[in-house]
Amino acid sequence: MDRRNFLKKAGAFCARLGLVLAVGYPAFAFVLHSSRRTVHVIFLHQERLGRVSFKNGVFLLQREQRLKAVSARCTHLGCTVQHDPVSDRFVCPCHGSVFDAEGHRIRGPAEKDLEILPVTISKEGDITASYTL
Ligand code: FES
Repeated sequence: MDRRNFLKKAGAFCARLGLVLAVGYPAFAFVLHSSRRTVHVIFLHQERLGRVSFKNGVFLLQREQRLKAVSARCTHLGCTVQHDPVSDRFVCPCHGSVFDAEGHRIRGPAEKDLEILPVTISKEGDITASYTL
């Protein structure tokens, strides 16, 4: 293959690649965005036994008269944090991030607090926390 033919074929290849990316990326982004879904985790009244309850990736914190739902997903790379009842802190087993009893970051590598989740309470006292995947 001579130089002229090579440049011709390389130019055609780049044009096709550009076309594929121009059409493909928006389609991929649309599919990715439309596949997001909301997960509802329901804590039945009788399931809430202590100050910290855990279910399906959600910690439900009951402190005095306050109720708060916190995602168990570490804000560093997404591992599931564990609650340490002795220190009343959340610890990530993957890289050692630590969060206080309210989910605020104490030390990294995570740079953000645990995500606070919206909560609704039914008239029966069941609590629903929601998050988006
Ligand atoms: S995923 Fe939690 S510290 Fe890295």
